[in-house]
Amino acid sequence: MSTHIGAAPDQIAPYVLMPGDPYRARWIAETFLEDPVQITDIRGMLGFTGTYHGVRITAQGSGMGQPSMGIYAHELFQDYDVQAIIRVGTCGAISDRVSVRDVILGTSASTDSAMNRSRFGDVTYAPAADFELARIAAEVADQGMLPVVAGGLFSSDHFYNPDASITGTLAQYGVLGVEMEAAALYTLAAQFSRRALAVCTVSDHLLTGEETSAQERQETFEDMIVLALDTIER
Ligand code: ADE
Repeated sequence: MSTHIGAAPDQIAPYVLMPGDPYRARWIAETFLEDPVQITDIRGMLGFTGTYHGVRITAQGSGMGQPSMGIYAHELFQDYDVQAIIRVGTCGAISDRVSVRDVILGTSASTDSAMNRSRFGDVTYAPAADFELARIAAEVADQGMLPVVAGGLFSSDHFYNPDASITGTLAQYGVLGVEMEAAALYTLAAQFSRRALAVCTVSDHLLTGEETSAQERQETFEDMIVLALDTIER
């Protein structure tokens, strides 16, 4: 049993979908998984395990930000021997190469977080998605004609950043969207030699100010969950 998840070892599947919002974990389980069972509710961070087309899958909330993601991803890899985690979240677009409702396959995750500074000292580590997972996700998206854009994410500790210029600089260097968890997930997957990928729907555009409606967010989120589940099924 782990400190923050607390489930028995066999209650967690080898493949995990991680939304930030624990209620999204419940929605994923109730909408897409057969025979879902709630396996944790510690601190309200809900997790469920069920099957998708015969494959056991857990949907576990990560909470917001890298410290929270770091706790849950660490326990999933270390205490439950999880093999792959796909973060399913939202991000803000920082580049004119993406629009609201697009789905970004986050191939890398730059970060302003101090977490990797305390881990790597003077070295600027480059957190990256698992190539195989990203490749399969891109193929599944192509086959389902779901438009996706592969590229860099910026995992920021700020949702409300007083210095807006940093996202402009990162966009010039090809980064597509800002979110708050992928860098911690990619770093932990590397530490434990496991696989990770973040797929994010663009919920808001920092350049245009455009935002998706709740209905649009729900629909694109659904498409993205099917993409993540089909990627795991492969
Ligand atoms: N997630 C969704 N939109 C975001 C934004 N603008 N900044 C950080 N994380 C986000």
